[in-house]
Amino acid sequence: MPAPERVLPDPDGDFTLTPDAALRIDPAGRDVADQLAGWLRPATGFPLPVTDTADPVEGRLTLTLSPTAAADIPTQDTRSAGAAPRDARDGGTPTGGTRDGDGDDDALGDEGYRLDVTAAGVRIVAATPAGLFHGAQTLRQLLPAAVESTTPVAERWVMPGGTVVDRPRFPYRGAMLDVARHFFGVRDVLRVVDHLARYKLNHLHLHLTDDQGWRIAVDSWPRLAEVGGATEVGGGPGGWYTRDDYRRIVAYAARRHVTVVPEIDLPGHTNAALVAYPELAPDKTAPPPYTGTEVGFSYVDPADERTYAFVADVLGEVAALTPGPWLHLGGDEAFKVPAESYRAFVARAQALVAATGKTVVGWHQLAPTEHVDGRVLQWWGTNGDDPDTAEAVRRGARVILSPGNHAYLDMKYAPDTPIGHDWAGLIDVRRAYEWDPGSHVQGVPAEAVLGVEAPLWTESVTTLAEIEYMFFPRLPAVAELGWSPRETHDWSRFRSRLAAHGPRWTTAGITFHPSPEIPWPSTPPQIPTQPTPHPAPITTTP
Ligand code: ACM
Repeated sequence: MPAPERVLPDPDGDFTLTPDAALRIDPAGRDVADQLAGWLRPATGFPLPVTDTADPVEGRLTLTLSPTAAADIPTQDTRSAGAAPRDARDGGTPTGGTRDGDGDDDALGDEGYRLDVTAAGVRIVAATPAGLFHGAQTLRQLLPAAVESTTPVAERWVMPGGTVVDRPRFPYRGAMLDVARHFFGVRDVLRVVDHLARYKLNHLHLHLTDDQGWRIAVDSWPRLAEVGGATEVGGGPGGWYTRDDYRRIVAYAARRHVTVVPEIDLPGHTNAALVAYPELAPDKTAPPPYTGTEVGFSYVDPADERTYAFVADVLGEVAALTPGPWLHLGGDEAFKVPAESYRAFVARAQALVAATGKTVVGWHQLAPTEHVDGRVLQWWGTNGDDPDTAEAVRRGARVILSPGNHAYLDMKYAPDTPIGHDWAGLIDVRRAYEWDPGSHVQGVPAEAVLGVEAPLWTESVTTLAEIEYMFFPRLPAVAELGWSPRETHDWSRFRSRLAAHGPRWTTAGITFHPSPEIPWPSTPPQIPTQPTPHPAPITTTP
């Protein structure tokens, strides 16, 4: 999970992990090997030393980086999901926004890997550490669910024999956490990164600012966090990330090959900033702090030069803290800003992003504004007929797909879901799975699609357990749409594969919704029925 591109099972090749196993790596793969060993040691109780290939240790788990790593495997390949031959995929035409943009069908590329399991050992080969990391996550899934235990378990650690060759369909696969409506501390965010990484999602979009709170320290405008960060929905204490907190999140994510995408939502969704700095408000008066859940009432003054100094300072500081290429400008629901002022504001704000060296991402409301090179629109509509977005794509924009009625993980699963919304409808697991990013929006062809993202808005989500409850089991559905070849798409097979993850989540202490659509194994272990308080995160240090 997500379904690999190709699988060639070998019933005679099962491998059993034994106490004398060691990981052999070439040095560039060291960090991935250390992480893999860290996942396997608690449950197995095995020492699993990590050694250089040069060392004389008899290693049986081998991670190899090869810049020219090739994807070819014997031709009578059996697809994981019984799909058509690879040549038939997407008409066999490599496309710019998707895998194999260079047209090289046999290269593993930036994120691909090959995993071979034989009776003698296990080998992962990739061209990059990210590829090795994804392969290591696959290896983890090939072991029994008990591998998720944090304490030693008596188990036969058998992995099924065969070969997996795997690469992503789209380069951008993400989830968004709204830390503005309710604030979530660093430890919670790191745990969310772990959840993304399991399913080969490679971007974490942090919605850092909104009416109810400003969550990132900005040295040049300190009251943004100190005053604007002190509130949240429902009147709780809020909070914000210091620069070091944010750096810690970014570094932890980077180690797991997850890129942080910071969002500063402008010009609307800015009440918290206006509370802190009334000169940014159109009437130059501080509004009261806002702890409700309405949208669309606030905006920074597009006619005041001080607003642009504020935007430049904030974007500059956030960009300097962010190694990834993206800076998300928001742009949604600025209902009180006249269209002409909105266009002028966005043109200047986009230029300020470009001046930081980052690439603009924004909600699809940016579509009618001026085009800038490379810009990316995040489409969150519920009706795939959107002429403005289609026109922006004709001018060169790329699109991240987050359709509100499929990918918004704050929507309830069913009428009785205890938290969440339903303005975009109910989203059960099947609905989260049954759409195609490559053809979802008219006029947005697959080659213009950068990828997919599952946003989680948190007006009603207050704890890590509630985040997990809304994520699982839908997050893997969106992850699969971003990663897996379209010809593997098959609801009935998907739900069976997903069912096997219930025991993994239970063993790992991850809360999830036991959706009746999924044929969960009944016993053991027990499946939780409600969001429950969660124990402290297991992994907290970068
Ligand atoms: C959004 O849901 N306002 C992007």
